[in-house]
Amino acid sequence: MRLAPEHPDRVRWNARYETTSPDFAPHPFAAEALRAGIPDGRVLEVACGRSGTALALAASGRDVVAVDVSDLALEQLAAEARRRGVRVECVHADATTYTPQDDFALVVAIRFWDPDVFTRACEAVAPGGLVQWEALASPDGGRFRVRPGELSARLPAGFQVLSEETTSGRHQTSRLTARRGNCRRLD
Ligand SMILES: C[S@@+](CC[C@H](N)C(=O)[O-])C[C@H]1O[C@@H](n2cnc3c(N)ncnc32)[C@H](O)[C@@H]1O
Repeated sequence: MRLAPEHPDRVRWNARYETTSPDFAPHPFAAEALRAGIPDGRVLEVACGRSGTALALAASGRDVVAVDVSDLALEQLAAEARRRGVRVECVHADATTYTPQDDFALVVAIRFWDPDVFTRACEAVAPGGLVQWEALASPDGGRFRVRPGELSARLPAGFQVLSEETTSGRHQTSRLTARRGNCRRLD
């Protein structure tokens, strides 16, 4: 389904990406996931922006699907992927209505928060795979923010937390890495 040109998140983020330059720096999540080990299979990045993480994972040989509401960010990401000779499948979609069609060895989101998107993303993780999520945090939560510990508290059954931390300071973030167990529930 095509996104409406007036979609408010698209308008807001396209305006941001029009006036700033990308650095395509990978988030530490990429190296951490490769170190921790993930099963064979594709990687999904939600709300990817101009993701150096997607590029790094693609360069490591993974098939990467990158989803964002900003078509401008995706154009810039796709151009950089072409320049580097790596393949990133860019999907222009609203993450709040996007349903992954597959199981993924790794699902990543960085600096994006929506509790329902988080739940759907976790459900898309293959047995033995990882979810890595970073969101802005505040002690009281609030719009687009998690409370410390909220990410792990919202994990569906069957995940094991590998690490979770919340930074201190003005722009607090919470960061979670968790692995899905190898058994799926039968119910
Ligand atoms: C703070 S930026 C983070 C981008 C990237 N993950 C990074 O760390 O550089 C938030 C991203 O979420 C995307 N976004 C906002 N609302 C969205 C939505 N409803 N569906 C998909 N992406 C969305 C924006 O376009 C933007 O790329």
